[in-house]
Amino acid sequence: MSVVKINVLTVPADLREELEKRFSKRAGMVESADGFEWFELLRPVEGTERYLVYTRWRSEEDFQKWQSSQAFARGHAQAAASAAAQGQGPAASGSEVWTFEVAETAGPKA
Ligand code: HEM
Repeated sequence: MSVVKINVLTVPADLREELEKRFSKRAGMVESADGFEWFELLRPVEGTERYLVYTRWRSEEDFQKWQSSQAFARGHAQAAASAAAQGQGPAASGSEVWTFEVAETAGPKA
């Protein structure tokens, strides 16, 4: 059963553009991680101000491996550089991780 890991980012209004720019230049390494299934950066429109970084994995173990890997560090290199320079995270002023198990799933009929 797949697991969904969502990184929930609080982003001040004036830094949204910067956050999206960073993601548009992201490392693109997560695609090669073992057990990786899906990624989406979700921009808030209504009901919340927070961005969601949606990721789906074959298993919890696959996610944990990616999170402690070089690929995760490289995938957050811009964020890390910015944090070092400013003493805080990039664009995002806060983050928390939500975990879900996929209980049911569907797609359009072929
Ligand atoms: C302190 C917590 C985190 C912050 C502030 C953060 C923020 C960011 C930012 C700004 C980027 C764009 C690239 C860059 O700036 O270097 C990025 C990339 C990414 N983040 Fe995070 N992130 C955090 C933790 C996480 C976690 C826990 C997950 C998993 C749910 C995650 C998933 C991703 C993915 C999939 C990418 C793209 C990496 C790639 O292209 O290889 N992030 N993150």
